[in-house]
Amino acid sequence: MNNFQYYTPTKVVFGKDTESQAGELVKEQRCSKVLVHYGTGSVKKSGLLDRVYASLDAAGVSYVSLGGAVPNPRLSLVYEGIELCKREGVDFILAVGGGSAIDSAKAIGYGVKYEGDVWDLYLKKDTPKDMLPLGVILTIAATGSEMSNSSVITNEEGWLKRGLNHDLSRPRFAIMNPELTYTLPEYQTMSGCTDILMHTMERYFSHEMDTDLVDGMAESLLKSVMRAAKVLLKDPKDYNARAEVLWAGSLSHNGLTGCGRTGDWACHQLEHELGGMFDVAHGAGLAAVWGSWARYVYQEDVARFAKFAVNVMGVPYDYADPEKTVLLGIEAMEDFFRSIHMPVNICELGVELSDEQIKELAYKCSYMDQRTIGGIKKLGKEDIARIYEMAR
Ligand code: NZQ
Ligand code: ZN
Repeated sequence: MNNFQYYTPTKVVFGKDTESQAGELVKEQRCSKVLVHYGTGSVKKSGLLDRVYASLDAAGVSYVSLGGAVPNPRLSLVYEGIELCKREGVDFILAVGGGSAIDSAKAIGYGVKYEGDVWDLYLKKDTPKDMLPLGVILTIAATGSEMSNSSVITNEEGWLKRGLNHDLSRPRFAIMNPELTYTLPEYQTMSGCTDILMHTMERYFSHEMDTDLVDGMAESLLKSVMRAAKVLLKDPKDYNARAEVLWAGSLSHNGLTGCGRTGDWACHQLEHELGGMFDVAHGAGLAAVWGSWARYVYQEDVARFAKFAVNVMGVPYDYADPEKTVLLGIEAMEDFFRSIHMPVNICELGVELSDEQIKELAYKCSYMDQRTIGGIKKLGKEDIARIYEMAR
């Protein structure tokens, strides 16, 4: 097992009606003015935003608000938020929504405390030293941003989607009421479930073999989410299935299932370029590339892929031909994606990739040919292009 740090400072307030505690939780932060930041309308339509305002009013917390964080949240809104916070003297941000609203809030928080252009932090030209603290009311089980140290922003100039990981951005609290996710369209629910699976699998697929406890937790998490996703296809208002994936979403990306191992993350890098260029739903984009990535890299670690096939997908181990076990495991995962109406290639994602676009994606994904991605197998620009070709 590798050395590791595990840091999860987020207070989780989980269960029915927990959003009514928003005002008191914000008040505990001893801030003077709050920015309430949200997406493109679901929280207004559901009445959640009004309930949040009522809770803040009851606690005597003063606030301003800014909506408009779109999926694959944009840098231009981040700039707007930074200006607003500076003008209004905001010292705490409450994000209400999904990963996009939360990530946009994180970027605003960085920007308020940074003298230069916040995008430079996402380009890794500088590292953040400070940021406004934030809290979260989560409305979709997906990214794990409610406990993670990550945020991902898309710059409309050049359509680059870039992430920034720093512990400063772990939220102070996360309010998680499974009932708030009842109103999600099926596609978003399943895209979110896929993202949760992938956060666990990105950590699971790495070469370290002596991480029995963490492997077991990851395998159990994967199986629970797959079971719950099937239940939610039939009954989107099954409270326990909603609760299961909501909690799994946080645990899949707060570091727990990565303790002692390095992780891979190639599929996320492949998806981020697709999301930046074609504005696809993040989880669906991951499903579209996963099978091609797995077939391209599995020979680097047949034992690990076979363990996944047997322990997660229930494939019997073929002692005479372990690779057969691996390939059956990959097929079984793709069958699962199909069963929850997720794409298993880029065409099914609704994108017809040209050769030129593949070149551009590979160029951007390799940071203009300056980096490799992946842990199971290090992937350069040519490998990346090959995987996009296999997946199109
Ligand atoms: O904008 P609104 O109107 O809220 O609608 C959203 C949006 O259209 C809707 N929605 C959310 N909750 C709802 C709801 N509709 C009805 N009822 C509800 N309860 O669902 C759509 C998707 O929302 P979004 O916030 O974009 O989804 P998600 O949580 O999947 O976030 C995706 C973004 O997070 C990034 C992704 O790349 C993408 O940009 N990621 C962030 C990570 C992190 N910070 O740790 C890690 C991930 O790997 C990921 O990269
Ligand atoms: Zn993700």
